[in-house]
Amino acid sequence: MGLLKGGINEIIATTAKNAAPIGIHHRDGKATMILLSGSHTAENIGRDGWVVANFVHDPVLYVKTAFGDLPEDAFTEEPVNGTTLYRLAGADAWIAFLAKVEKKTNEAIVVSLTKEKEIIEEVAVYPVNRGFNSIIDATVHATRYRINHEIKLRHLIDYHMDIVRKCGGKKELAALALLEGYLAE
Ligand SMILES: Cc1cc2nc3c(=O)[nH]c(=O)nc-3n(C[C@H](O)[C@H](O)[C@H](O)COP(=O)(O)O)c2cc1C
Repeated sequence: MGLLKGGINEIIATTAKNAAPIGIHHRDGKATMILLSGSHTAENIGRDGWVVANFVHDPVLYVKTAFGDLPEDAFTEEPVNGTTLYRLAGADAWIAFLAKVEKKTNEAIVVSLTKEKEIIEEVAVYPVNRGFNSIIDATVHATRYRINHEIKLRHLIDYHMDIVRKCGGKKELAALALLEGYLAE
């Protein structure tokens, strides 16, 4: 058993010195990503053929990497089978994958992932927190809302923001403030 669980694993993907939250679909022993065309992650995978899945529990990092860039020192080099890859310096755990584009349409690419190396750096226990989960949900909806401004998405974002206010700790509230800033842009 590896680190990926069944279903969609919301990790932070690093490709070159770029980071973005991405879902890894893990079913029947197969791991895949569906990437909207035009993102840096999609471009880098098409060019370099690798991606690292970073397991982190900092809600601020999910918001920052969904909308902005991280400083250089947020990344660290990892030599994996003769290639230098980049992962997040603060990752609790990470998996390096070979990434192959299996399908390409105008809107998206489907990428199959083959595990090369998997490491746990830190062992920590995190209680389930609805505020953390709702930061992830609000951020997913916000990445789409910023493109299409659908009112349905705005309602979902507001619903999840209320849960963050009610259930979140300091880190979730800091992530919320950041997200509100990106939505106001
Ligand atoms: C939790 C979460 C999961 C996401 N999953 C995906 C995904 O599976 N595929 C995708 O194309 N975008 C996904 N996104 C949106 C990207 O993170 C977003 O478009 C980002 O700006 C891409 O950054 P990049 O241009 O640096 O690659 C997700 C966002 C969040 C917050």
